[in-house]
Amino acid sequence: MKLKLRPPLTGLLLLLAAQIPFSAFAAGGDNKLEIFSWWTSGGEAAALDTLFAATKKAIPGVEIINATVAGGGGSAARPVLQARLAGGNPPDSWQIHPGWELLGQYVAANYCEPITDLYKSEGWDKVVPKGLIDLMTKDGNTYAVLVGVHRGNVLWYNKKVLQKNGINAGDKMTFDEFFAAAEKLKAAGVTPLAVGDSGIWATAQLFENTLLGTVGPQGWTDLFTGKMAWDDPKVKQAAETYGKMLAYQNSDHSALTWDQAVKAVIEGRCAFTSMGDWTYGEFAKAKLKDKEDFGWVSHPGTDGAFIVVSDGFPLPKNAPHRQNAISWLKVCGSKEAQEAFSPLKGSIPARTDVDKSKFGPYHNWSMQSFAKDALLPSCVHGEAAPAAFQQALNDAVTTFVVDKNADTFVKALAQAAKDSEMAK
Ligand code: BGC
Repeated sequence: MKLKLRPPLTGLLLLLAAQIPFSAFAAGGDNKLEIFSWWTSGGEAAALDTLFAATKKAIPGVEIINATVAGGGGSAARPVLQARLAGGNPPDSWQIHPGWELLGQYVAANYCEPITDLYKSEGWDKVVPKGLIDLMTKDGNTYAVLVGVHRGNVLWYNKKVLQKNGINAGDKMTFDEFFAAAEKLKAAGVTPLAVGDSGIWATAQLFENTLLGTVGPQGWTDLFTGKMAWDDPKVKQAAETYGKMLAYQNSDHSALTWDQAVKAVIEGRCAFTSMGDWTYGEFAKAKLKDKEDFGWVSHPGTDGAFIVVSDGFPLPKNAPHRQNAISWLKVCGSKEAQEAFSPLKGSIPARTDVDKSKFGPYHNWSMQSFAKDALLPSCVHGEAAPAAFQQALNDAVTTFVVDKNADTFVKALAQAAKDSEMAK
């Protein structure tokens, strides 16, 4: 059925149109830029603002539409975005993780334009590690620019709480050391581990970190390339260790978001939290100081490995404001913007030519780790595996948190891996 405008309405529209300058109807004539992300926590929003401020300088008079959907890890944002993309209503750019998420969900569906030329004209091909560019490249075309690289496998702690309880976290930590500290804290009436898994991904990340701490970097690569089975005894061992850790978590974990769990650490209600270094953004926002108020160590057993959780932005096909979208991408890839963004976000710049003296102890530690450690893609954040496997992991974790059955857990993962195109 065709929609017919009734005559009085037609008249009204003509009247309105007569009052609107013609330029407003010209393609791309409106000076707007809509950016879609899930950066809504205190630290995330503050960091995003630095990118917006730089964009406003680059595009005078631009009106930025900050299209956010709350929910850490993007679990709530992605379905909204998918509906918009499928409906032909893309924002001007959106937050992506490289690897499977970008290539499998957006590039394969033909939603993105290559931006390979920008890599040359902006010189990004010379300053962004090739390994990262490869994660965004298909058939010789690169599809996104990265603004920062998070380290996923970090165990954060409230320094004063540990000191008060005579605990020294050291430069690296084993699972046994973690459990000894947890026992001590529990005996002193402090909740050892803060988890905020109202979005299940946060506890899936606790498992992901524990999995790496158990199977090591080679085991990680083998699992995601089909060389090691997901029901291997080592994966089961990781599930059991993860189950043991859950016994030390806060009782209200399922009611809290990841940043509320960080708040529990900030306020000293809990001692540790195992979470990517967007956590740093929350500490920074609360004006806490590296090594004085809070400390960190690699998640137990993961010293020498860096789980990459990188954030980038692509150029959509039919971007509503294409020129502004390109200016946004240029800002995201610039040295100045990355130097301003990272200290507030917790990630390190994707560019390696930044001035390290502009960064504090945590960032320098993470930059060193990035330069020398085994770099591994995250599954919980969509890089290492297709969306179906990522979802299967979240589902298996949801069940495990309740039944703690390691056998069913690894069986579910093994089945999901078989069904997935990940290792084919
Ligand atoms: C993103 C981070 C974000 C975190 C929590 C991750 O998926 O890469 O930028 O801060 O989720 O929302």
